[in-house]
Amino acid sequence: MGAQEPHNETLKVLGFAGSLRRGSLNKSLLRAAQEVAPPGMTIEPYDLGTIPLYNYDLEEQGDPRPVAEFKEAIHSAQALLIVTPEYQQGVPGVLKNALDWASRPAGRSVMQGKPVAIMGASPGFTGTARAQTQLRQALTYTQNHVVLQPEVLVGRAQEKFDSEGHLTDVRTREFVRKLLEQLWALARLLSPRP
Ligand SMILES: Cc1cc2nc3c(=O)[nH]c(=O)nc-3n(C[C@H](O)[C@H](O)[C@H](O)COP(=O)(O)O)c2cc1C
Repeated sequence: MGAQEPHNETLKVLGFAGSLRRGSLNKSLLRAAQEVAPPGMTIEPYDLGTIPLYNYDLEEQGDPRPVAEFKEAIHSAQALLIVTPEYQQGVPGVLKNALDWASRPAGRSVMQGKPVAIMGASPGFTGTARAQTQLRQALTYTQNHVVLQPEVLVGRAQEKFDSEGHLTDVRTREFVRKLLEQLWALARLLSPRP
């Protein structure tokens, strides 16, 4: 089935943003994705705020409950939508840390083989381009399949949301919608229906 055709199946997507703050542009972008998702696709937002810093000693005693819950949420989703801010031209620690936990045990983690779409928003002109490049690289090690195009780089993001965090920029909404269509197409390729 092509990306443009109507869907009568469903896709369960887990979405998380690498920012903890209430007024996060990236959390707002994730909410916009929920609004423009194609019929049949549900995007469940997950807050990374409870996940402790990765520590092998902790892991050896068994995953802390927030980590176990996060891994279970990834496991039960058919696809992931990761929304990254950009800190020091890279992926913020909050997001990288969550992915570090999720990547374990290496080589047989819940991440492995999952289709993923990435996007991000920042006030600068480059719209998280460098963070997204770094994120793509990390998702190679976790053996994820990542949507290649469109790249959703929301630059000058503060101008594209209203005061309530609603994405008002029509072109950006369209890019997000196309990204989700491509995520669905990728998920179908990886798990064709019998
Ligand atoms: C520690 C730190 C480093 C940052 N580094 C960058 C950067 O490298 N590039 C960029 O475009 N914005 C940078 N910013 C600005 C963030 O893009 C901006 O704060 C953005 O709103 C964060 O995402 P959020 O709104 O989802 O929390 C940085 C912000 C902080 C706090």
